[in-house]
Amino acid sequence: MKTSFTKKNGAIFIILFFLLIQSIQIDKTNQAVNQTQDFISVTSAHQDIENVLKSACYDCHSNQSHYPWYANVAPVSWLIKHHINEGREHLNFSLWGIYSEKQKHHKIEECIEVIEEGEMPMTSYTWMHKEAKLTDDQKMQLISFFKGLQYSASLSKIEETH
Ligand code: HEC
Repeated sequence: MKTSFTKKNGAIFIILFFLLIQSIQIDKTNQAVNQTQDFISVTSAHQDIENVLKSACYDCHSNQSHYPWYANVAPVSWLIKHHINEGREHLNFSLWGIYSEKQKHHKIEECIEVIEEGEMPMTSYTWMHKEAKLTDDQKMQLISFFKGLQYSASLSKIEETH
């Protein structure tokens, strides 16, 4: 008798706790985007590259995040917000135009690395966004695009010093 009473209390407590934490909602406003600073326009990336980046990276690495319905449900929403904040801190494609040449160089190198190693997009993201999982072809496409940027940056450096 006693145990079932405690069990019931426990269940009620969990439900109340879940309802209570719903009052702590995340901020889903995106900062205004200046398209002329966006990675895709700065690098004149073609449509294929744009599509892949927007479906696999932009939700966490730009100011153009789309929030799924479950971003309204705590505590999942807190985790999503945390990933977006951290993602933007490391790399924000919407602010590409204001990065220094050195920062760009470093971020491009990191992009190649995380794609090659299959670290990005994060697995917790591709569980819910199947279309974001990169195929081998898409990985190759992205990597050669990023390498092309490295190459043209090194060419313009040579031009500057001559
Ligand atoms: C679900 C959110 C999410 C998605 C989608 C995502 N990232 Fe990330 N990314 C993060 C977070 C969080 C970090 C920082 C923590 C870490 O390194 O795991 C990060 C870090 C990075 C870094 C820095 C790595 C380092 O060593 O510091 C690069 C570069 C990067 N991501 C590129 C990408 C690219 C390219 C894509 C798309 C192919 C992508 N990310 C998709 C959340 C995401």
